[in-house]
Amino acid sequence: MSSRKLVMSFLLQLLLCLLAFDSTNAEGLHKEFYKKTCRQAEDIVQNVTAKFISQDPRLAPALLRMHFHDCFVRGCDGSVLLNSTNTTQAEKEAAPNQTLKGFDVIDAIKSALEEACPNVVSCADTVALAARDAVTLINGTSWEVLTGRRDGTVSLASEALTNLPPPFANITELRTLFAKKGLSKKDLVVLSGAHTIGVSHCFSFSNRLYNFTGKGDSDPSMDPKYVAELKKKCKPNDTTTLVEMDPGSSTKFDSHYYVTVYDRRGLFQSDAALLNDKSTSSYVEREATGRATKFFKDFKASMEEMSRIGVLTGTDGQIRKNCAVVNK
Ligand code: HEM
Ligand SMILES: *[C@@H]1O[C@H](CO)[C@@H](O)[C@H](O)[C@H]1NC(C)=O
Ligand SMILES: *[C@@H]1O[C@H](CO)[C@@H](O)[C@H](O)[C@H]1NC(C)=O
Ligand SMILES: *[C@@H]1O[C@H](CO)[C@@H](O)[C@H](O)[C@H]1NC(C)=O
Ligand SMILES: *[C@@H]1O[C@H](CO)[C@@H](O)[C@H](O)[C@H]1NC(C)=O
Ligand SMILES: *[C@@H]1O[C@H](CO)[C@@H](O)[C@H](O)[C@H]1NC(C)=O
Ligand SMILES: *[C@@H]1O[C@H](CO)[C@@H](O)[C@H](O)[C@H]1NC(C)=O
Ligand SMILES: *[C@@H]1O[C@H](CO)[C@@H](O)[C@H](O)[C@H]1NC(C)=O
Ligand SMILES: *[C@@H]1O[C@H](CO)[C@@H](O)[C@H](O)[C@H]1NC(C)=O
Repeated sequence: MSSRKLVMSFLLQLLLCLLAFDSTNAEGLHKEFYKKTCRQAEDIVQNVTAKFISQDPRLAPALLRMHFHDCFVRGCDGSVLLNSTNTTQAEKEAAPNQTLKGFDVIDAIKSALEEACPNVVSCADTVALAARDAVTLINGTSWEVLTGRRDGTVSLASEALTNLPPPFANITELRTLFAKKGLSKKDLVVLSGAHTIGVSHCFSFSNRLYNFTGKGDSDPSMDPKYVAELKKKCKPNDTTTLVEMDPGSSTKFDSHYYVTVYDRRGLFQSDAALLNDKSTSSYVEREATGRATKFFKDFKASMEEMSRIGVLTGTDGQIRKNCAVVNK
């Protein structure tokens, strides 16, 4: 090659790099990654998700939570969907196996995707897109989901236990667990706002009602009237009853969660803990009492951040055929 040709080819490559950078973020995700390989991919996800949500709107919070659990354990790599194998216990099995729902929705979407474009769309992208579509479909906010995630091949219950924040986490533990994922205090208080929709089992918070410090006491940081109300719903050792996390507004994606937390009626210690830090508590207060809520805009930004955690792209990982098992 002559030196002129070399220079030309260098400039061309530089240009291509700059062009590619425009639609690719640092982690290698793209806008409409499947445009050429599976044009209908995002429509299929939306249509199948809509079908399920119209039959059971409670699947919307379930899908949002699944995305969170996926991203916090080994990155957003679809590992939350894997079944246990003969030799390993999967994330799904982590005690108390996280009470996740919506696996059937992901399976139905994935089947439709495989029918239209076999071996193209990852399970990890399917979860990320379905979570966004579910929240949008119940008239919540929306956010951009870049695509091109690939699927991991490992899912370990032990990692779910160490990476997912437990409901009894205090503000220090929450900040640490979020920081490990590259998320800020602001992301913590904003993403906790996801608890504006959905329900919890009594066992996730009943320690606050009955035996908070081992003396048969209740959590003094919770409004005593609310403790009494919850005790009526949740008897000790109840394993089945479901309680709204944002009472009266739990099917509506809005900023009312912050009113609940501000009124000392946050269901988990992790919700209440947001009042124990200056900046998170001022966010709660502003959203609860201010006239203009920034929650939707903030939630969009934080979800876009969360959905990039530890993604596999390029030739890493694989495109699973069946989301519950690694390809043979
Ligand atoms: C900040 C730390 C967090 C803790 C400690 C936490 C804990 C929990 C717990 C214990 C439940 C109830 C599980 C049950 O008993 O059935 C729950 C439900 C839920 N969480 Fe979180 N969570 C956190 C952050 C998040 C984030 C970041 C999101 C999403 C962006 C999220 C979305 C949800 C949703 C939507 C539900 C309701 C699920 C349903 O109705 O099926 N959570 N969370
Ligand atoms: C999605 O649903 C819309 C409206 O029902 C329909 O027009 C469209 O063809 C569907 N797209 C795919 C890819 O299934
Ligand atoms: C994964 O586990 C679920 C629940 O045990 C089971 O219904 C499903 O058939 C399994 N999927 C595969 C592909 O083994
Ligand atoms: C797992 O165990 C089952 C039943 O014991 C056996 O049929 C199967 O071959 C095993 N799979 C692997 C990958 O070892
Ligand atoms: C959760 O774990 C229990 C016991 O470990 C098991 O019986 C149940 O099937 C699991 N549920 C899911 C959804 O994996
Ligand atoms: C969302 O808004 C549409 C149009 O206003 C309405 O028909 C639908 O019932 C709403 N869905 C939910 C879950 O609020
Ligand atoms: C938070 O919990 C950890 C672990 O249980 C504990 O060591 C720490 O002292 C607690 N921090 C605060 C501020 O309560
Ligand atoms: C309350 O907690 C203490 C200490 O952990 C325990 O000894 C006691 O049995 C608990 N009481 C109930 C009713 O669970
Ligand atoms: C609940 O479980 C605890 C510990 O397993 C036990 O000590 C207690 O007696 C049970 N309470 C009721 C009301 O069954």
